Amino acid sequence: MRLCQECGKVLYARYDLDTARVEVPRSVLAGRPADMWRYFEILPVKDESNIVTLGEGLTPILAAPRLGREIGSSDLLIKDEGQNPTGTFKSRGLSAAVSKAKELGVTGVTIPTAGNAGGALASYAARAGMSSHVFMPQDASEANKKEVVHAGGELVLVDGLIGEAGQQSRQVAEEQDMFDLSTLQEPYRAEGKKTMGYEIAEQLNWTFPDAIIYPTGGGTGVVGIWKAVEELESLGWSDGKRPRFFSVQAEDCQPIVRAFERGDDHAEPWENAHTIAHGMRVPSAIADYMILKVLRDSGGGAIAIKDEDMLHHMRLTAQLEGVVVGPEGGAVVAAARTLIEQGTLSRDDKILLINTGSGLKNLDLM
Ligand SMILES: Cc1ncc(COP(=O)(O)O)c(C=O)c1O
Repeated sequence: MRLCQECGKVLYARYDLDTARVEVPRSVLAGRPADMWRYFEILPVKDESNIVTLGEGLTPILAAPRLGREIGSSDLLIKDEGQNPTGTFKSRGLSAAVSKAKELGVTGVTIPTAGNAGGALASYAARAGMSSHVFMPQDASEANKKEVVHAGGELVLVDGLIGEAGQQSRQVAEEQDMFDLSTLQEPYRAEGKKTMGYEIAEQLNWTFPDAIIYPTGGGTGVVGIWKAVEELESLGWSDGKRPRFFSVQAEDCQPIVRAFERGDDHAEPWENAHTIAHGMRVPSAIADYMILKVLRDSGGGAIAIKDEDMLHHMRLTAQLEGVVVGPEGGAVVAAARTLIEQGTLSRDDKILLINTGSGLKNLDLM
């Protein structure tokens, strides 16, 4: 079962946090491995021998003072997810999902992807000894296509975007008895992504910054980190102060921004979506209602960025801080600048940018 059988919506993993609050104090983390599986008790795998890992997680939070001065922030931080084993935050979700699939006895997996999740799946499936079928738009980055084939995944190039890839992925999974890992159409990828939230709190001494800015496509990052914020409070691990959450999308694919501005609970699909930031080229997200709720409940917002501004801020981030970000990372930096200029965020706010992937995946954009 991948979605709720009654309402067809997203399934959410739940844990006995009342018991965990007593039995799992945060001091258990001392001496644990420096990867996302240090939070084992609140991840979905039951038997540690099923963990499929390449060392994902515990990526650094880097102070970015020079970039901060340039965009008007006195307290700017970058969590650099480009340092994950497959070069993006997708390592986390796929490590969790492939581990759980292994535990459930799955031998083959399929995935529709803008690119980076496909690359990650091929590596984790190889590590688990599973077969993988990856459905990707024809114009995905060369790095993404090559990493799938290189790791022995079956690559299918689709004439269309992630929606079309999703239909083919589901169909092949049904026909060939494989498990389809579409974003938020199974509960485990979001569990991996939520470890970003656990790490942010742990790395900032069990507090959250004033604002977190995230590039949003399907929304697992936003939904996952917010789940961590809530779980950490239930566990008694965090101080209870919640961050404001901001989603960033591209000017020519901004369904969540439009719905947020209109006050809608659901986002209409975006027509003729295009942007150089393929991770955000998602015209319609199954978790639209969850993303919008997080943005509103947290007192955050949503903002769209032009492609040329992404490129400009990719370059600035490399030149001022030495951090090589992709277009999604560039978008997040540009969004921080605009939010400060608008007065939505202040110069002294502690602002955490998530750089979701390494710019080395996008050599053509450098
Ligand atoms: C580099 C990058 N950033 C951001 C996203 C969007 O992430 P999410 O689907 O969690 O919203 C993706 C998804 O493909 C991505 O590859």
